[in-house]
Amino acid sequence: MKRIAILISGGGSNMVRLVETMLAEGYAAPVLVGSNDPAAAGLARARDLGVTTVAVDHKPFGKDRAAFEAELLRPILAAEPDILCLAGFMRVLTPDFVRRFEGRMLNIHPSLLPKYPGLHTHQRALEAGDTEAGCTVHEVTPVLDDGPILGQGRVPVLPDDSAETLAARVLKREHQLYPAVLRRYVRGDRSPVLL
Ligand code: GRF
Repeated sequence: MKRIAILISGGGSNMVRLVETMLAEGYAAPVLVGSNDPAAAGLARARDLGVTTVAVDHKPFGKDRAAFEAELLRPILAAEPDILCLAGFMRVLTPDFVRRFEGRMLNIHPSLLPKYPGLHTHQRALEAGDTEAGCTVHEVTPVLDDGPILGQGRVPVLPDDSAETLAARVLKREHQLYPAVLRRYVRGDRSPVLL
């Protein structure tokens, strides 16, 4: 069975959905949840689900991303994951780190890529007058929020939406999309999931 490590920075609701579906269906094994923020609420949620956690605070490393990543890499390699899932992980990874997991690292992004890579995706969609928004799961390459698209989930933008109401609607779709993509990905199926 494929071993999955997940990196988070915050509440970890996508991570929880991934872990819950893996445990319920047995399509993969969650072996580690890691965070760059020791206070990330998702760490306790992961432990409650019985998953080993690790936190490596990025702050003491300042601008030295390579040193931070070296520290983070140790427990990840020790957990021997086949696939690394970024789920609300808010640190940009260096090309060196990304290359180590080339072809086996996924990310979820709250926009319909290639639209709106980076931050503030929902605000940008509203300002553009988009009638549709959504989320994307893609393979991670050294270019931020780029890489082969493995699935997209769409939601309508409603006339009275704020960035917050739109984000909440998209997040629900994220919770469906990420497990749907991972289920296929562990079988080597990279045909895009469209929700
Ligand atoms: C999600 O919207 C994800 O796409 C974005 O950050 C959010 C993380 O939410 N990058 P959670 O930590 O999974 O609840």
